[in-house]
Order: sequence, then C-alpha cells, then structure tokens
Amino acid sequence: MDKIVVRKSGPLQGEVKISGAKNAALPILVTSLLVNGENTYHNVPGLQDVESVKQLLTTLGARVHTDGHTVKIDGSGINQTKAPYDIVRKMRASILVLGPLLARMGKAKVSLPGGCAIGARPINLHLKGLARLGASIELKHGNVEAEVSQLIGNDIYFDVPTVTGTENLMMTAVLAKGETILRNAAREPEIIALADALNKMGAKIEGAGSSVISIKGVSALSPAEITIIPDRIEAGTFMVASALTRGDIKIVDCEPDHMRGIIHKLGLTGANIQIEGRTIRVKGPDVISSVDVKTLPYPGFPTDMQAQFMVLMSVAKGYCVISETIFENRFIHVSELRRLGADITVSGNSAMIKGSQALSGAQVMATDLRASASLILAGLVAEGSTEINRVYHLDRGYEGIEKKFGQLGADIQRLRE
Ligand code: EPZ
Repeated sequence: MDKIVVRKSGPLQGEVKISGAKNAALPILVTSLLVNGENTYHNVPGLQDVESVKQLLTTLGARVHTDGHTVKIDGSGINQTKAPYDIVRKMRASILVLGPLLARMGKAKVSLPGGCAIGARPINLHLKGLARLGASIELKHGNVEAEVSQLIGNDIYFDVPTVTGTENLMMTAVLAKGETILRNAAREPEIIALADALNKMGAKIEGAGSSVISIKGVSALSPAEITIIPDRIEAGTFMVASALTRGDIKIVDCEPDHMRGIIHKLGLTGANIQIEGRTIRVKGPDVISSVDVKTLPYPGFPTDMQAQFMVLMSVAKGYCVISETIFENRFIHVSELRRLGADITVSGNSAMIKGSQALSGAQVMATDLRASASLILAGLVAEGSTEINRVYHLDRGYEGIEKKFGQLGADIQRLRE
C-alpha cells in the first residue's frame, strides 16, 4: 500500500484548481441507467470512487468511454439488475443504483452496504421511500432485493435529511407514474446538481435545494450533456491549508456559494478571505483564533470538513469545541492527531480542543477519506516528518492531492510500496 510523507512546510502559496465534486459525480453518473442513449459528462474527477461506479455501470451493461475528465455512458444496453458485493463493499455509494435500476428494469438486487469507519450508515430511509413508491423490498443473504411492476408517485417523508437517500428517491421518482413529493429532503448543492442534470434529460423536478422537492414522473428521459460542479470539500480543504500555514492560496474553479458555512467559520479564525467570481483567495493569519463548530446538514457546517477544521483548531490560540451531529463515530482521526501532539478530549459527540503551538511528526494511519486529508494538513505544520499509511482512502476522494499540495510548496511525497 502506498504511503505519503509530509514534512513541515513553509507558508503554502500559489493557485490550486478544484476538481469536479465526488459527491455530485457519483449520483450523476448513475443517471445513465435511466436513459436509453448516451449521456456525456464533463469535469468528472479522476477518483477511485468514480472508477468504481464506472465499473459497476459496466457490469450492469452500460458502455462507458472515458477521455480525460469527460465520460460518455450509453445506458441503452442495461441488461443486468444485480450490483455485486465486491464493488458495493468498496464503495457504499453503490446503493445509488438501487432506485434507478428499479425504475428502468422493474427489479434490482444490490448488496447491502456495510457500515464504515465513521458510522453504521443505515439505508432504512432509502428502502422506506422505495416501498412508498410501490416497490416490494426483501433483505436476503446480505442483499436488498426490490421489485415493482409500476412505480406510483407518492408523498415521502425522511426522518432525517439523507443525501444519498434523497438522490436515490429522486432518480427513482422521475420515471414513476404521477407526482412524488420528498419532504425533509437533503438540501446539499449536490442534490441541486442532480436535479439540474435530470431536468436536462427531460425530468420535471422542482424545489431541489429546499427541504420539499416535487418530481412529476415522465415516461422516458433523453440523453444530455452534463458538467459536474466543483468539489466544495476539496476547496475547503485547501482553504484550511492556507489558514494553517500562514499561506496565500488562490482556490480557482470553485463555487463560493456552496461554501458559505466554511467561509464563515474560517473567517472567524482570522483568515483573510477574498471572493472574486469562482476564485477564493485565503491568506492565513499570524495567530489562529479558536472557533466552536457544530456539523449540521447543509447549509450548516459540513461534516466532511470537520476533521480538517480540527487540525486548524489544534494549533489555534485558545480552546474550542467541535460537535459532530451527523455521524456517530467521526472522531477516529482524534487518536491519530493526538499522536502528533494535539490536545483533544472527546466526550460523546463533542471534542474539546486546546490549541497547542507545536505538533510533532509521527507515523499515522488514515482511517477514512476526510480524516486522511486532515493528516496531510497536520503534517504540514508538525515538526519533522509525518508518514501517512493507507492512503488509498485519500485516492477515493481527492484527485492528485500530493501533486496539488506540492505545487503550492508543500514538502510532500508519495512512496509507492
Ligand atoms: C453523503 O453520505 C456523502 N456521501 C457523505 O460524504 C457525507 O458525509 C454525508 O452525505 C453527509 O453530508 C455521498 O454523497 C456519496 P446521509 P450519505 O444519508 O448519503 C442517517 C465523503 O467523505 N441515515 O446524508 O450516506 C445517517 O446514519 C462522504 O465524501 C439514516 O439513518 O449520508 C447519518 O446519520 C462521507 N438512514 C445521516 O442520516 C438512512 O437511510 C446523514 O446521512 C440514511 C441516512
């Protein structure tokens, strides 16, 4: 397995171009299951998770052609309805094919995604929603087996706003008979991006981005050309890197309007943030102020930025509390940050961080995607060198991260094993 070695680096400076958003690309590529023709997708990020979803779609009978960041997928030949375990276990988001397969083929068999490092990650709300549209759902031998003769639109309420649950049901309802209303729907920019993509294919979706989404079923969708929105979490990660290292970084090709929570909290730490169109310039402060953060569903502060922000708070001046309200086990990075000298005390879903002046490099273990990025950030300011193992987590969600950090002046290298 590869490892990444980061050494204490000076202020990061320069420009970094943000890639397409992983969490927009995954559901949007799956829309190819709904179309009897070829969709073209631009600005698709080069990520392991994207490779996994392309492999899954190919297994189901789609024809996938990749040319750099443009991916063409022809869903005319979909002839399988089973998503195999060996792909689902690598990427939980495979559950996103459940609804579209049901809508296209009338049945679907998807291996139940297990939990992951950050939590149990149940899919009960996905399944309840599909049942509300008339599907019969069975859990057998570790698979979800769904079947329906005709999907009928209905009123669906989510106990909690679930991102992939909203996406799964939206993609299913577009081919149902009649109107579906999703209530307490997730409001993330990736939901709006998916609705925009489906509407370009002829769907009739209104209200995406609000907590009530209306989907009027249509008989068929037509091929379209879609461009994936920028990754707000990648952009946020580089914003934190600049604040952390007293840097001066221009983050280009991002969407500031998707990042208001991150921008607000980072501004309170003393970072100087200038926004100009699709560019955000972040200058790090001489002294980083401690700021309390609570992760919440969008538009609240994103849980996917919690670990990165914790690193910044670990070297801030003062005390703060970070509360994680989305996932029940998303403090795994705390023990790794402690190995680097961070002073963090966890109690339930809150972490109290006492800003300390010096972290010191050590061998650490990446445990999940965003926690891995936080270890790179910590390595940038820790004395000596930090060796990060299991970097395959990183490759799932960050395109060429060591190259991007290296171009900003970070002392970072990947050791292939
Ligand atoms: C999506 O996961 C993202 N993944 C996650 O990003 C992100 O952290 C998360 O949304 C929250 O923003 C993708 O979009 C591929 P949820 P998802 O369903 O959809 C509970 C990353 O690093 N819940 O919004 O799986 C659940 O337990 C990843 O890119 C149910 O109880 O998250 C959690 O507490 C990590 N039942 C809460 O809802 C359900 O059926 C929010 O989860 C579904 C969810």
